[in-house]
Amino acid sequence: MTLFDESELYSGLASQMWAAYTNLGDDYPYFKQVLTDHPGLVLDIGCGTGRLLRAFLRDGFTVEGVDIAADQLEQCRRLAEEEGLPVPVLYAQPMQALDLPKRYDAIIIPCGSLACVMDRRAALDALRRLKHHLAPGGVLVFNLFIEEEAYPRKTYPEPWRDWSKAVLPDGKTLFTDRRVVSVDRLEQAVVEERRYRVIDGDSRDLPALQDETRTGGYRWYTRNEALWMIELAGLTVDKITGDYTDEPFGPHHTNLMMFHTH
Ligand SMILES: C[S@@+](CC[C@H](N)C(=O)[O-])C[C@H]1O[C@@H](n2cnc3c(N)ncnc32)[C@H](O)[C@@H]1O
Repeated sequence: MTLFDESELYSGLASQMWAAYTNLGDDYPYFKQVLTDHPGLVLDIGCGTGRLLRAFLRDGFTVEGVDIAADQLEQCRRLAEEEGLPVPVLYAQPMQALDLPKRYDAIIIPCGSLACVMDRRAALDALRRLKHHLAPGGVLVFNLFIEEEAYPRKTYPEPWRDWSKAVLPDGKTLFTDRRVVSVDRLEQAVVEERRYRVIDGDSRDLPALQDETRTGGYRWYTRNEALWMIELAGLTVDKITGDYTDEPFGPHHTNLMMFHTH
């Protein structure tokens, strides 16, 4: 399996794409409830440009962020400043080598970002490092998407497909296309390319002023593999729920598993 620097897929124009994303998302109310139930200091792992982190600052929670991609954190700071929010406390570190001076009452990994850690031993290290950063009584809550059915056996790379269109602060348009390049079923890992093009106008067919292709990947886990990994890291599973509900995770859930651990 090819291992990537995990910041590659999220740096450069990628960070501008995530910064332009304004939808709060289905996970916002779910994680907000988690933070309400576990008051205190919060750490958002893989916070990116702060989609959730900035919303939680707006809500009055005390939340800090970690991301491996410094470009994402720079956008997060810019957006927080533009919104008049308190200056966010952000750390550019890989979660698998997390080393912070504080302990947290709630640590969250939204958006399935644990799956971004490509080396399987590094993923276990990440959980161990997160456990180490929990205050007594603290919780770690994270989701993983259910991916095992998502990649049919066919020839890769697949064709490029349109993914997003965003208006940048200078009025130019950022078009993003993505494609799966390869699927490794033994490693349960996907390699993707994402192509970012800045265009002065509203059509993908116009010449690009900037053109960047970034490569990276993610893994998928079954429920039992995740449980083994969590337990190996010395964490205890309190509950597993499905699809941003409070229902115990079951076969009818189609999108994700949410693990509550301490
Ligand atoms: C799918 S994005 C999610 C961003 C943000 N949490 C959100 O929901 O909008 C994944 C984020 O995880 C970060 N990331 C990937 N691998 C990481 C690692 N090993 N350690 C810390 N952050 C990582 C990426 O840079 C990216 O910002």
